[in-house]
Amino acid sequence: MIDTILQAHYREKLAVTTSLRPTREQVITATELARKFNVPFKDRDGLSLKTLASNLNIPGLLVVSSLKISYVSGQQEFFFHPGLARLRIKGLKYGKTDQMIRAMSLKEGETLLDCTMGLGSDAVVASYVSGGTGKVVGLESSTVIAVLVEHGLQTYCDPENDIAMSMRRVKVFNIDHINYLSGLDAGSYDIVYFDPMFRYPRHKSPSINAMRNLANPEPVKRETIEKALRVARKRVVMKERRNSPEFKRLGFNEFVGGKYGPVAYGVIER
Ligand SMILES: C[S@@+](CC[C@H](N)C(=O)[O-])C[C@H]1O[C@@H](n2cnc3c(N)ncnc32)[C@H](O)[C@@H]1O
Repeated sequence: MIDTILQAHYREKLAVTTSLRPTREQVITATELARKFNVPFKDRDGLSLKTLASNLNIPGLLVVSSLKISYVSGQQEFFFHPGLARLRIKGLKYGKTDQMIRAMSLKEGETLLDCTMGLGSDAVVASYVSGGTGKVVGLESSTVIAVLVEHGLQTYCDPENDIAMSMRRVKVFNIDHINYLSGLDAGSYDIVYFDPMFRYPRHKSPSINAMRNLANPEPVKRETIEKALRVARKRVVMKERRNSPEFKRLGFNEFVGGKYGPVAYGVIER
C-alpha cells in the first residue's frame, strides 16, 4: 500500500538516467531503479542533467554513475556519504563524548531502532558503538532516500574496516515509522530514536539541504511516541533544536546536549 502511494508521488517528478558515457552495468542498474519506482528511464543522449530535467519538466533526476547513485536537482546533489559519522567515530576512538550516544546511553551489544534514518550518519555511529553483537535498524519513509542510502551503506569503500563494517551492519526498511512500530512486540529494541526534519530549518548542512526536497517533512505524532515507548526497553530519544516546543508537545522533559550547542536530545526513560 505504502509503495503504491509513494510511486504515485514520484511518478510526476522523477526519472532515472546515467552519467554521460555509461557502462552496460550502469544502464542495467538505472533501468532496474526506474522499474522499481515506476518512473521513466531516459538515455542521456549527450544532454546536460539540467536540460534533461527541463525537457521532462521535473525538478530532479536519479543518476547512476560509476561511483555512486545520486539525486540531482538544480545545483544540488544528494548521495550517500559517511560525512560526519567518520569524524564522530574517530572522536569516540579518541575517548571524546558523542552527545547522541550519551543521550541514548547506548552500549555494545544493544539494539537501536532509528525511526528517521535520513543519510544514516547517526545510524552508522550507533552501529559502531553497538558493534557486531548489537543491532541497528533504520527506517526511512522516502523511497529515494532509503534506496540511495541503503545502496551507499552496502557499497561505500571506507579505508577503515571497522567503519565500513559499521555501515554494512545497518539494516534499512523503506517504511513509515508509525506502521513499523505498530507491528513490533513490546520491548523489541533497547532504544528507539527520532531525528525529524527540524520544524524551522537551520540551512547549514549542505547534505540535509540537498535532501530536503525528498524528505518527509511531517512532524512526529504523539501517537508515534506512545508506540515507541511500548517498543523501547530502555528509552526513547529525540533530537531537535534546543528549546524546541516539539519536546514539550511530545512529552520529553529530560535533556542531554552540550550547554551551548544548537541542538539537544530529549530523553524519555522507560
Ligand atoms: C533530519 S533527517 C535524519 C537525519 C539522520 N539522523 C542522519 O543522521 O542522517 C530526517 C529523516 O526522517 C525521515 N522521516 C520523516 N518522517 C518519517 C516517518 N514518518 N517515517 C520514516 N522516516 C521519516 C525523512 O524523510 C528524513 O530522511
